[in-house]
Amino acid sequence: MTKINNICCIGAGYVGGPTMAVIASKNPNIKVTVVDINEERIKAWNDEDLTNLPIYEPGLPEVVQKARGKNLFFSTQVDEAIAAADMVFISVNTPTKTYGKGKGMAADLKYVELCARQIARVATSDKIVVEKSTLPVRTAQAIKTILSETGNGVNFQILSNPEFLAEGTAIQDLEAADRVLIGGEQSPEGEEAIQALVNIYKAWLPEERILTTNVWSSELSKLTANAFLAQRVSSINAISELCEATGADVGEVAKAIGMDSRIGPKFLNASVGFGGSCFQKDILNLVYIAKSLGLVQVADYWEQVIIMNDHQKNRFAEKIVSTLFNTVADKKIAFLGWAFKKDTNDTRESAAIYVADKLLDEQAKITVYDPQVKETQMQRDLNYLQSRTEQENKENLTTTPDAYACCQEAHAIAILTEWDEFKKLDWQKIYDQMPKPAFIFDGRGILDEEKMKNIGFNYFVIGG
Ligand code: UDX
Ligand code: UDX
Ligand code: ADP
Repeated sequence: MTKINNICCIGAGYVGGPTMAVIASKNPNIKVTVVDINEERIKAWNDEDLTNLPIYEPGLPEVVQKARGKNLFFSTQVDEAIAAADMVFISVNTPTKTYGKGKGMAADLKYVELCARQIARVATSDKIVVEKSTLPVRTAQAIKTILSETGNGVNFQILSNPEFLAEGTAIQDLEAADRVLIGGEQSPEGEEAIQALVNIYKAWLPEERILTTNVWSSELSKLTANAFLAQRVSSINAISELCEATGADVGEVAKAIGMDSRIGPKFLNASVGFGGSCFQKDILNLVYIAKSLGLVQVADYWEQVIIMNDHQKNRFAEKIVSTLFNTVADKKIAFLGWAFKKDTNDTRESAAIYVADKLLDEQAKITVYDPQVKETQMQRDLNYLQSRTEQENKENLTTTPDAYACCQEAHAIAILTEWDEFKKLDWQKIYDQMPKPAFIFDGRGILDEEKMKNIGFNYFVIGG
């Protein structure tokens, strides 16, 4: 029976950081070292002041405090940590390819491959390698090929252990996971490796929630779970447009269908569009895989989820422009929220970026307030789209550290993220400081429609 004493995790990001913090806190006898090539990030993970951790995640500082320096370490010494480990998690980023074959669709496996090669180079003892990043089906096979041809006599077992945590609730999702999925080779050695990882999760989760499958099922389950979740959002968003055209209310429809136990009530909030590092990337990946296999109908079916999401972001921006008498040129538009969802500082694929980009094309002046996202990040997000010069982005999109200042003198307010604090703002005060007519475009359906209308706002909500 393989007993794990020493874990190394390559990649100290949104997945690697919280996951390893929880594994370490639940397994005090296992030494866990999280490594990253990004020195600044590792420095932040090691900061005495826990408010400086590189990612904002409720409950994370407490878990880090419990284990850091005892059996949880953050380091840039990648080779040393790999060499010392019995089990190595690969938790590096796998963005959508921005070049070459599969550009805009396939996952870029550059970082994963580099990790595999690095492990192959430095390993002198047998290791279990766990793929934690979201990867296309059959990546484990590629990792295995790289590792098995090192010729130095070291044996590797490759496991797929996809992550299902959602940002903003990562600690809760890890500590009370619905399920943990572990895919491995169907051989005695494979079974032993699977069991070694099962034992780590068993430290805090009931065994019946730990599923074991073959590697390919595990990899495909991850893509499928995200595709289904994103599909629910696109489905309800499609209905939101129908509601706006007919006088039905999407909240009422969502409630009514959600009470059917076959459908269920979760993940039915109409919104300005889903964002985050996973949904779009994983679906594009699924579409790419289906296309590569010649499964045209399958590819088209899933691609529609992305098309609908793009449409939702666009039509929100267009609604703002058309409502403001077909021009937003030189008008101040206040954005409440920039993160892709509440309780995170992550902005990857956030709807706010695309809505801002469209409004900037229309020469609007945007001011943003987000409680956790820094201005440098917002500028980086916009510049990445290459729609205009960096200087123009800087001049036309600014931030303020205060929601009231953000909304002052604004022609319209757009709510892009559902931060709880937005519900508690003094909306009468905000109204009094705006030119009239004053508009709110609630992209998250978080405000009380009647109350807003009574104050005097022209209030528009997705699906209302
Ligand atoms: C997702 C999966 O939920 C998680 O299991 C996987 O490991 C990673 O991808 P994440 O992207 O962190 O997690 O957050 P999630 O809560 O799924 O939200 C994704 C996007 O969908 C957000 O932009 C969110 O605002 C949006 N969303 C979600 C809606 O618009 N409506 C909903 O009802 C739910
Ligand atoms: C459906 C709705 O379920 C019901 O609420 C509505 O009032 C009428 O339409 P029905 O068509 O009688 O009911 O049966 P249902 O169990 O929904 O099955 C519909 C079809 O889907 C069947 O052909 C069934 O075999 C198929 N199905 C259902 C699957 O192929 N897979 C499934 O997982 C579920
Ligand atoms: P995720 O959301 O998947 O966790 P992130 O981008 O937040 O993605 O984190 C991935 C981390 O992996 C980054 O901090 C990046 O610096 C790190 N990384 C990428 N490649 C390597 C590598 N070869 N060695 C060490 N760290 C790496």
